[in-house]
Amino acid sequence: MYTKMKREIVPGHNSLITGRKERSMPDLFAPYELKGLTLKNRVVMPPMCQYAVEKQDGMPNDWHFVHYVSRAVGGTGFIIVEMTGIHPDGRITNKDTGIWGDHQIEAYRKLTEAVHAGGAKIGIQLGHAGRKALDAEPPVAPSAIPFDAQSKTPRALSKPEIAELIEAYREGARRAVEAGFDTVEIHGAHGYLIHQFHSPLTNVREDEYGSDPVLFGEQVVQAVRDVLPAEMPLLMRVSAKEYVEGGYDEDYALDVCRRYKAAGVDMFHVSSGGEGPIGSNGGPNAGPAYQVDLAEHIRSGLQIPVIAVGRLESYEDAQSIVSEERAELVAVGRGMLSDPYWALHAEEALGGVEKSSVPAAYERGVWKRK
Ligand SMILES: Cc1cc2nc3c(=O)[nH]c(=O)nc-3n(C[C@H](O)[C@H](O)[C@H](O)COP(=O)(O)O)c2cc1C
Repeated sequence: MYTKMKREIVPGHNSLITGRKERSMPDLFAPYELKGLTLKNRVVMPPMCQYAVEKQDGMPNDWHFVHYVSRAVGGTGFIIVEMTGIHPDGRITNKDTGIWGDHQIEAYRKLTEAVHAGGAKIGIQLGHAGRKALDAEPPVAPSAIPFDAQSKTPRALSKPEIAELIEAYREGARRAVEAGFDTVEIHGAHGYLIHQFHSPLTNVREDEYGSDPVLFGEQVVQAVRDVLPAEMPLLMRVSAKEYVEGGYDEDYALDVCRRYKAAGVDMFHVSSGGEGPIGSNGGPNAGPAYQVDLAEHIRSGLQIPVIAVGRLESYEDAQSIVSEERAELVAVGRGMLSDPYWALHAEEALGGVEKSSVPAAYERGVWKRK
């Protein structure tokens, strides 16, 4: 059984009295296993584009290295690398990372090895921005519907082009495995290409990809699943709700996710919005824990593990979501931009950091302050 500190919150304080005790309920700092992926804790760094590629070549550089490795040193159990283009024109901007060529594998291997040395596991989010690819001339999409009046009108993909993109996802996933990633997350959220297919607002095609709006995403999932080792879980990020008028609701999203689950998704990372002017940083009234009910909806409706995300930077909120079994994992985005050591600080505040969580060189700063 997992042994952890007893945690008693002192009313009115963020500090805690600690003592040793066996714990049986899920804990933010208990390990977690999904197929062959074992995480040391339930804290996730969600994908966050850095727009920091220097030469438009998609290669991660020193900035990306420091950015991800410092969160591993900071105690995060699971790091998901930002939306990475499976095609050069699938990036939001030319400053985004890419994984469309074998020449890119080595740069990611350097990153995965360093994150592993820091004690964390690492996945990569594979994406295509579709009509939201700002630098593509022109962007492509299921249908020729622009994002808004200021955006370029995308060109509708032909069926051979759709087949090529599915291959590009497969190849991106193969490269990710070769680069040492522990898992892959398919980006099916925030109004990007897969979301554009499964949303009735952006897909008015008259072929089978229009009559079955989930077909494209399903074929991407199958292609990616094909090249992942059997024991490697496959994750998918979805927007479980659209906020624009006429957008889909959480029950529609549940049906979409049911198909993706049957095609091979092992865990959903549940977000919302992004189809219209409201971005991925939150819909209307995006207060603390604003998407957790959506994560629970997918979790209970499909009996599948989920990552909850969205304003979960309060240590107590993050802990309660795991201990109340509302989600298996908790992702903290902007909170980790602010504090690379969010996980160590959360562990310290919630019950006292285990010596094993702290890099030896930092013990005097975190584990034993002297
Ligand atoms: C700078 C920045 C970049 C982001 N890039 C991505 C991305 O690449 N892929 C993605 O799925 N979400 C992206 N997001 C959304 C975050 O992963 C996360 O879902 C969102 O920020 C809400 O979580 P938070 O309240 O903990 O920040 C980004 C968010 C921020 C702030």
